[in-house]
Order: sequence, then structure tokens, then C-alpha cells
Amino acid sequence: MNILCPVCKKILNGSDKIYSCKNRHSFDIAKEGYLNLNLKNSQNTGDNTEMIRARKAFLEKGYYDFLRQEINKYINENDGLVDLACGEGYYTSFFKAKDKIGIDLSKTGLRIASKADKTTTYLLCSIFHDPLQDKSADVILTIFAPIAKEEIVRILKDDGIFILVKPDKGHLYELKEKIYEHPYYNEVEDINIDGLTLCKEIPISRKTLVKKEDLNNLFMMTPYYNTTSINDKEKLKDLNDLSISFSFLIDIYRKEVV
Ligand SMILES: C[S@@+](CC[C@H](N)C(=O)[O-])C[C@H]1O[C@@H](n2cnc3c(N)ncnc32)[C@H](O)[C@@H]1O
Repeated sequence: MNILCPVCKKILNGSDKIYSCKNRHSFDIAKEGYLNLNLKNSQNTGDNTEMIRARKAFLEKGYYDFLRQEINKYINENDGLVDLACGEGYYTSFFKAKDKIGIDLSKTGLRIASKADKTTTYLLCSIFHDPLQDKSADVILTIFAPIAKEEIVRILKDDGIFILVKPDKGHLYELKEKIYEHPYYNEVEDINIDGLTLCKEIPISRKTLVKKEDLNNLFMMTPYYNTTSINDKEKLKDLNDLSISFSFLIDIYRKEVV
């Protein structure tokens, strides 16, 4: 897949240290290997170092390996794959595809991703302004991240698929029971995307014993970490190993050819 200049949209060509286009706009490759295409007009700098470290430490323990194994069934070795909001590349690095691009706004995330995984081109920029050509990707992934609907439809090939991974209703319920006075199930929203058809929804679930030392990292990965009171967060410290449901939905969308 070609990478486009974020200024003039011409194709970028890469050397060891920089990528540049024929209009001489140039962009640095960071020493870890990711390409910085951020035009610095974005307030959003993605997940911070603390969040990335917590997620990395938790994912490295293998708790979500079953999820990436399942997603992998829908990816073909000849695919051009784009992982939108790839974080530190836990999923991106695992998949076998001919051409892989991971996009995120978190420098810490991409430092880790690009240092460890030389099979993927990692790009620092917003998923809402992808530096990619129309109809260039066979597979696009969005895993627990914002959904850039228009860009997904634009860059997906006519017969391409979009894989959306989101938490299911009972995800982490046992953890919420221990922390909140009134635990609740997640609301699961059906996501409609103009131009794509939802072909398949795969529920995947596993109950796993999570070690005491991993509970805080797991909780930090959740969207409710920032909205939970200090008192409730303190309860995490008193917990022992806990059996927790990991429940996800893998939604497979296909592009409607018009
Ligand atoms: C919950 S994390 C998921 C990361 C990865 N997909 C995973 O599951 O391990 C959400 C990611 O979205 C990234 N992100 C949020 N808004 C973004 C944007 N506008 N452009 C690019 N990345 C963004 C964050 O930096 C973070 O890495």
C-alpha cells in the first residue's frame, strides 16, 4: 500500500531516515522505526505512557491471546492490512499479511510497536485523516478504539472487509462487581456504517483467573478507569486472584459495491 504525503497527497517514498514526496515535503522516521506524519495540529496525542505501559504489561501475560487467534482466522496472507488505532501493536504484530500498516497518535505506543515489530509500517497520525489511497486496503481493523467510519469506507477495496472488535455485555462483569456498589452490564451498540454491510457477528468469551498483580493494569485499560472514584479504585488493592469473564464481539463488515 502506498503512503501519501499528508500535505499534498502525493505518494511518499522512503529511505533509511526520511520519507518524502515529489513536492519535497519530508517526514522523519523515528529511531525506533515509526514514521511521523503528524502535522502537529491535533490536540489529541493518543494514549499516554501510563496507559500504554499498563496495557502492554497486561497483554504480555497472554490473557487476550485467544482473541487475536480468533481475529487471525479472518486475515489472509496476501492481504494488505491496516490496523486503525493499533496502540503498541499487540494485535498488528501478530497477524500474517503481505503488507501491514498500523496507525496511532500515541508516540509511546508506536515506539514500542515499531521497535519490536519490523513486519509492519507504523504511522503516527490521526485515524480520521489516513495517509492512504482510496480503495487500497483488503482488511481494516479497529480494536477497542474510535471508529473512523468515512475513512474506513474510503480506503477499503471493493471486496475488502472491516473487522470491528468491541466489548460484549458481560465483559469484566466480575471485576465491576467487586468495585461498584451497583455493577452494570455494558451497553452494546449496533454500529451502522454507510457503505458497509455487517455480514457476521462472532461472540467470543472466556472466563480466566486473573492474577492479583494484573488487576490494576486490566482496570487501567478500561474506559471507566478515569470515571471511577478514588475510593472505588482503592478496592482493587484488596482483591486476590479473580476469575473474570472476557467477552468480546468480532463484527465483520463487507464493502457494498455500487
Ligand atoms: C483502547 S486503545 C486500543 C489499542 C489497540 N487497538 C489494542 O486494542 O490494543 C485505543 C487507541 O486509540 C488511539 N487513538 C485514539 N484516538 C485516535 C486518533 N484520533 N487517531 C489515532 N489513534 C487514536 C490511542 O492512542 C490508543 O492507542
